[in-house]
Amino acid sequence: MEEAIQKMQAEALAAIDAAQDEDALERIRVTYMGKKSRLVALTKGIKDLDDAQKRVVGPIVQKAKQAIVQALTRKREELETARDAQAEWIDVTAPGTKVRRGHLHPLTLVQRDIENIFTTMGFAIVDGPEVETEFYNFDAVNVPKEHPARDMQDTFWIQTANNNARQVLRTHTTSVQVRYMQQHTPPFRIIIPGRVFRQEATDSTHEHTFHQFEALVVGDDVSVANFLDIAQSFFSAFFKKDIKVRLRPSYFPFVEPGFEFDINCTKCGGPENAKGCSACKGNGWLEIGGAGMVHQNVFVAAGYKRNRYQGFAWGFGLERLAMMKYKIDDIRHFHSGDVRVGAQFR
Ligand code: DAH
Repeated sequence: MEEAIQKMQAEALAAIDAAQDEDALERIRVTYMGKKSRLVALTKGIKDLDDAQKRVVGPIVQKAKQAIVQALTRKREELETARDAQAEWIDVTAPGTKVRRGHLHPLTLVQRDIENIFTTMGFAIVDGPEVETEFYNFDAVNVPKEHPARDMQDTFWIQTANNNARQVLRTHTTSVQVRYMQQHTPPFRIIIPGRVFRQEATDSTHEHTFHQFEALVVGDDVSVANFLDIAQSFFSAFFKKDIKVRLRPSYFPFVEPGFEFDINCTKCGGPENAKGCSACKGNGWLEIGGAGMVHQNVFVAAGYKRNRYQGFAWGFGLERLAMMKYKIDDIRHFHSGDVRVGAQFR
């Protein structure tokens, strides 16, 4: 009997020692100490022994019980500590959770790009008000009242008490030209990026609120050749490829002569490979904006002497350029407020 007990105790202790988790330990406890365990069976048998045997076997069983209970307690504590440690464990090599960061709007990206290119070419960046007087938006740039050219741009008029100082939401960045020239004497070269407004229905290429980009270079002997060279340098730097600029005669009241200018298609490269090109509809050129030699009436409005200076100016839509660069197919995305649009162009 003694031997049987000791063997059972040794087995129990070995099993407890080897237990991997708390469930396994509980099964071991049931096996060795539970109601149907051998230990209980042995304990029950004690009462049938004679007194002398009882005195020998009793303490052995008692000791075995104690040893097993102690071992169980110790092991349980050990496993619990291990479990807690596991719960607290931090894997310092695990990849972190990404913090969502804000991003710049594609128009801001394009504007910064443009500003960087022009500042390296010696241009200053100039600003002007979005709510503008009728004078700077129209009269000063040679668009007199009653002149049919006023109808070229559908204007948002601001209600003002004084009808002699009528105000508009500026229809173009050309409005800043005379403001700047009144304060500065040539030579100078400036760019004027800014928001402009037109009262018109929106579609995939028209918005009532959009951005333009004006350039103005004035000096003693500024020519169309200078315009072509600066435009070509700018567009080549902007699209990071060799770009050619083409002029077509056109009319804008603030310039004479006036042009519309195109660049060779940034997708197919130009007329030679344009067949079937979706970007330029097969003709090899993309319309960009208007340009020309500053009309002497504009210089006079700024307070310069007629025929004292020469200059060129150009203006075009920033959205259109951003659409070309980032392959955006609808101008309305820019002001949609949908952050998914901008998030693609970090
Ligand atoms: N202001 C014109 C527009 O909004 C664009 C423009 C054309 C600007 C010719 C110029 C220019 O400076 O020379 O459509």
